[in-house]
Amino acid sequence: MPKILEKRTLTPVTKLYRLDAPMIAAAAEPGQFVIVRIREGGERIPLTIADYDCDKGEITIVVQEVGATTRMLGTLEAGDNILDVVGPLGERANVPEGGHVIGVGGGFGAAALLSVMREITQRGDKTTVILGARTKELLILTDELRESVTNLELCTDDGSEGYKGFVTARLEELIKGDGPGKPDHVVAIGPMPMMRAVADVTRDTKIPTQVSMDPLMVDGTGMCGGCRVAVGGKVMFACVDGPLFDGHEVDFEEAVRRNKMYVKEEKAAACRQKELGLVADGSSAVAKQQASASEGGAA
Ligand code: FES
Repeated sequence: MPKILEKRTLTPVTKLYRLDAPMIAAAAEPGQFVIVRIREGGERIPLTIADYDCDKGEITIVVQEVGATTRMLGTLEAGDNILDVVGPLGERANVPEGGHVIGVGGGFGAAALLSVMREITQRGDKTTVILGARTKELLILTDELRESVTNLELCTDDGSEGYKGFVTARLEELIKGDGPGKPDHVVAIGPMPMMRAVADVTRDTKIPTQVSMDPLMVDGTGMCGGCRVAVGGKVMFACVDGPLFDGHEVDFEEAVRRNKMYVKEEKAAACRQKELGLVADGSSAVAKQQASASEGGAA
């Protein structure tokens, strides 16, 4: 049961947790993830390892509260334990060496870009991160990214920070030679529509583009088939073959469809959670959820 050493609120719905997890930290590599469970019989959620320190035996994860389980996780505080954290899982990020690598991040995709882009910078490549959010308050980990890459470009939809507009618009400008200039490789991590739009922007120029797929996962070992993604007409599993795939080959239509498969159940779980007041009173929420589960409560 890894202990939470630090909790930071990055936005009202985004929390950073530094965990005591020496075995995972010792084996972690950029781009990998963990699967977390917060109660017996509960949902398993994949979360990218945003950072890791093998000397201290710590890993950092970032949680965006988008569903019942992530909201429950968001109520845990420093000093609490997380029931299960399994990992590291997935393949390490593999971006060819040499040239200019642009990481494009939207929302909490910044967390997943951090260790990937830092490693690329440390090996000597020129790196740029284009990070976007609706407003400046929703931009996360900007200090950490600024220290880890050659150039950091911030974009906001409302122009409250940096470039006014979408990350894809700024990427198009860089491809034309503006600012840090044209990339040789692109890595996009964030919401599916953003990654799809990035792949569309780079397709004609044939700039190799990797996207990080985060489908529903159960076992995380390639056994259940839950995380399958169609890539270049082949069935791949995000938990063992990914999470990074060639963005020009991913079947985004199917990926979006599969990610919506349990929307009804997720809504029902959120309603049930609200009815039971499971999130309203902070850190007691997980204990209440555990009690509720033993009575047949929702995930
Ligand atoms: Fe089961 Fe990937 S999570 S095959």
